[in-house]
Amino acid sequence: MSGESVKVAVRVRPFNQREKDRGAKLIIGMNGKQTTIKNPDSKEGPKNFAFDFSYWSHDEFEADEEGILQPTGSNKYSSQRLVFNDLGQGVLNNAFEGYNTSLFAYGQTGSGKSYSMVGYGPNKGIVPITCDEMFKTIQGNQEQNKRFEVTFSMLEIYNEQVRDLLNKDNPKGGLQVRQNPKIGFYVQDLKKVPVGSYKEIERRMEQGTASRTVASTQMNATSSRAHTVVTITFDQIIKGDSGETKKSSVMNLVDLAGSERADSTGATGDRLKEGANINKSLSALGNVISALADQSSGNKKVLVPYRDSVLTKLLQNALGGNSKTIMIAALSPADINYDETLSTLRYADRAKKIKNKAVVNENPVDRLIRELKEENEKLKQMMTGGGQMPLEGSQAMSQEGLSAEEIDKMRKEMEEEIRAQLMANQEMLAGAEGEGPSWEEKLAAANTESMTEAAVPDRKNKEAHLTNLNEDPLLAGVVFHYFKDGETTIGRKDADVKPDVILSGLSIMKNHAVITKNKAEYELRPGMPGAKTKVNGAPLTGPLTLTHKDRVLFGSNHMYVFCNPTKKDSSADLPDTIDWEFAQKEIAQAKGFDTGAAGLTKDQQIAQEQVLEILPMVSEVNAVSEELDKHRTFEVVLVSAAAQEGALGTQKGTKVMVKMKNLLNGNTWLWERGKFMNRRFLVQDLYQRWLDGDEDVQKIKKEEDPFWEPTEDVLIGNANVFLQSLAYGLDFDDRLAITDYKGQEEGSISVHVAPCTQTGKPLDEDYFVDNPSELLGKPYHFKVSIRSAEIKKARFSKGIQIKYRVYTNEKITETKMIKGNLSPKFNHSEIFTFSSVTEDHLLFFDNQCITFSVYGVQEDSVADPKLNKMSTKELRQMEHFQTPSTNRRGTVFSLDSSETGQLKSELMLLQKKFDRLEQKEKRMQEICREWEKKAEAEKDFDGLLRSVSAVANSSGTKLRTRVQVLNRVLLGYRLMKKPGESSGDSNPGKDDDTISVYVFGDEEDSMQKVATQNGGVLSHDLIKRHYGDKGCRSLLQQKNAVAAKQSGAGQKKSVSQNGVPNEGSKACVII
Ligand SMILES: Nc1ncnc2c1ncn2[C@@H]1O[C@H](COP(=O)(O)OP(=O)(O)OP(=O)(O)O)[C@@H](O)[C@H]1O
Ligand SMILES: [Mg+2]
Repeated sequence: MSGESVKVAVRVRPFNQREKDRGAKLIIGMNGKQTTIKNPDSKEGPKNFAFDFSYWSHDEFEADEEGILQPTGSNKYSSQRLVFNDLGQGVLNNAFEGYNTSLFAYGQTGSGKSYSMVGYGPNKGIVPITCDEMFKTIQGNQEQNKRFEVTFSMLEIYNEQVRDLLNKDNPKGGLQVRQNPKIGFYVQDLKKVPVGSYKEIERRMEQGTASRTVASTQMNATSSRAHTVVTITFDQIIKGDSGETKKSSVMNLVDLAGSERADSTGATGDRLKEGANINKSLSALGNVISALADQSSGNKKVLVPYRDSVLTKLLQNALGGNSKTIMIAALSPADINYDETLSTLRYADRAKKIKNKAVVNENPVDRLIRELKEENEKLKQMMTGGGQMPLEGSQAMSQEGLSAEEIDKMRKEMEEEIRAQLMANQEMLAGAEGEGPSWEEKLAAANTESMTEAAVPDRKNKEAHLTNLNEDPLLAGVVFHYFKDGETTIGRKDADVKPDVILSGLSIMKNHAVITKNKAEYELRPGMPGAKTKVNGAPLTGPLTLTHKDRVLFGSNHMYVFCNPTKKDSSADLPDTIDWEFAQKEIAQAKGFDTGAAGLTKDQQIAQEQVLEILPMVSEVNAVSEELDKHRTFEVVLVSAAAQEGALGTQKGTKVMVKMKNLLNGNTWLWERGKFMNRRFLVQDLYQRWLDGDEDVQKIKKEEDPFWEPTEDVLIGNANVFLQSLAYGLDFDDRLAITDYKGQEEGSISVHVAPCTQTGKPLDEDYFVDNPSELLGKPYHFKVSIRSAEIKKARFSKGIQIKYRVYTNEKITETKMIKGNLSPKFNHSEIFTFSSVTEDHLLFFDNQCITFSVYGVQEDSVADPKLNKMSTKELRQMEHFQTPSTNRRGTVFSLDSSETGQLKSELMLLQKKFDRLEQKEKRMQEICREWEKKAEAEKDFDGLLRSVSAVANSSGTKLRTRVQVLNRVLLGYRLMKKPGESSGDSNPGKDDDTISVYVFGDEEDSMQKVATQNGGVLSHDLIKRHYGDKGCRSLLQQKNAVAAKQSGAGQKKSVSQNGVPNEGSKACVII
């Protein structure tokens, strides 16, 4: 396809505070148009990408006196102005030439999309600068015969519903998206306000933002999951000799929802997955971009699935049609976001392949009017003239096997479509023909229209107030509440006396709270019992005097900061500006979660981020559970690597999950984070329907209820067996603790893992593999036996079963289910075989484990009918009382219980190795002693060598070298012995100067080398270097003690007074 490619820019933001605190590593590099990304965890080199623009906004900048970030030194930093010059100016030029343009920002949550598009404070983004410049150019226009008409609209797409952000009253289910043969897809009844200056646009944007903020606190939407689309239509009407011509341009400026893929993981298995549209638009956008990229590279047959989502419908022109399009991909610089950032870069790389065909939209106004009129006539005929099209259509439809009812429904929809089109055309006609109010009149009307309370400019700098915090920084500091003298009441609009500050949404009570102003003091107290308010993370129980920067959470969603410009004394520990994250962290801390940044691994950091994100959602779902009386309670749980099935050694880290508990019977479910997010989304939807007065909500079928889940076996806990011993041909036999996800002990199981023959017979007692690599290429069999278990909690007596998976086996091995016994005897065993041991198998033995997951049966019954009479709120309070959250404290990110398990198994293995070596040494000593006792004539040295070798023979390479060393010792001994010396004549003192030394660790090889060179003898100095003085002394003492025991006699004098071996003493190395 010929045409112009989509222009793609990438931009990398600075580290945020959290990333700095954690010592985040930078993964992005830029050089000219090149952008590279490097995975800090891999040895692989960086991946390269090339884009039209690569913007470095990570460092080398400082704020000027107006607070605008400007480059320092090297000029590497790309400021907002620079980005505008490259991208925004192009948008503007296109608009003046009559092209449609689109600009959209893509990237993960918090990556800087809104910063580039809208900007923060003095650092205005592309959209405001473009609008500002547009009006500057308009105002500078000298051509008398040219006039300009600009309209502004702002909408939000969330959950596949379109909401007009400039309109307070949006219909239930959102605005309709319709298709028009001329302009493609459009939003019916979207408010398009005429604007005459940049100031007006700015005000409209504020209005739109305020409306998003309100919606997000009422739980209609979560900002980072919503797409915001600003549309500016820019018409230039030029008077010429042959009438008027209209040059028009539509500018679509799209701030997309955060692109996290992680949300869908875990939700895949959810039975209600289909119900959620969380990111339908975003994934549809991905598919559209892929299809268009394919098409542009020559594959004409690809169908572009625009119709799959609201967003792709609205962006059809921007992506594959008459538009000049720019995409800006926002990148996070931090290592923990590597996967997401790489995926953003790949997305951007695909987008740059798309080609568009933009044309100048310039037409004589007369012709436009004529065409519109003709089309209107046709439409009217369709409506009234016997329903020509619907009839034709219905014949075709009945051929397709549609029922009369379905045909009727479709006919109605078609009629509705035609009517909407008629209306839209009429509106355009009215404007063009000069019927109705003139452009100037419309502009004036729009200007006088009352908008959100016009802010008194300086009020917030003079008066104490509450200002809102939001997860999306763009929506923070948008709402202000000021206080009257005396009492200011806060509550729901249906309270008996209308409160001064009206809040709505979850857990807000009619009379929720009261703030009393007394001179310069402000005191906050609960408005009625049960009203949930938190100040600085702690529940508010009585009156409390507020201080500057206090964080106040009303209900579960309304988070504010108290600001008192007249009395700015606040705690010195507080940051300059309080943000959402700070406030959430504080709540998390109060709940017992660790939020410190120091010393966390990358996995733990990711888990921590997820906890901070998910905690407010869990509170929200709990609040809905209470309001809809669902008898369920939810809790964030951190599942340590040890508690995850087969997770050890697979680099899985702490996992954030959500536990749902049925308060009536204690049954629990553990949900993946993704599954919870999916359910939470459905819960929001359900709650919204309930607020909208939908009676069906209370009668929802359990299969459709996001709070319902079929009863399943519950994971009591896991026990891990490490397998190093198998690599050495040894068995492992132990009683292992079963720990639950919190690291609490829930019982134990008795397990035996042993190498065996093909038929499961145990191997010879003495079997020992000295070097695991000897196993390579050979078959290996081992038997896993589970004898019994001991479970602590009585509620699991309904049935207990153990499941485990070995290596990468697909199959999960299960024991039988044993009912009615908390000490079940399983007598389970199973033989596993590796037909030929590979390096991977050895790695598996070396650092992985078998996770035995112990499950308990749950039944869907209500134990105590009295509970049924209690409300969810009461039940949750009771639950809270019974299991205080302090249980969780200290288990978070603490030493993994698996580490203890691993150490234990290592210790066991070392012990066994040591025992074996000791036995062998003993046996060798015996042989030597026997040999010594022999009469000189009987001393057959070769025979001795053979027996010594035999002892060591089974023992792999290392022991073989040891035998060689020993040979040398013996050789040396033989040489030292003069012919004719009698056996009783050997010099015991000399003998005692020789001690056996075991060398493990790094120096093993080097010491052995020296020993080999010196005939198996090491100097005292060398030994001292390895063991230190003390160690050396204790070695000798040990030997002397043994010798004393054996001979029953006093000690020899080879030890000097201070216990250090004499200079002359030597050591024979047995490594
Ligand atoms: N180029 C930049 N220079 C300085 N600060 C930046 C830059 N880009 C982003 N930031 C800061 O990073 C934070 C997150 O940016 P932003 O709100 O734009 O993210 P986002 O991609 O819109 O996230 P969301 O998907 O949640 O809406 C903001 O506090 C913003 O000020
Ligand atoms: Mg944003």
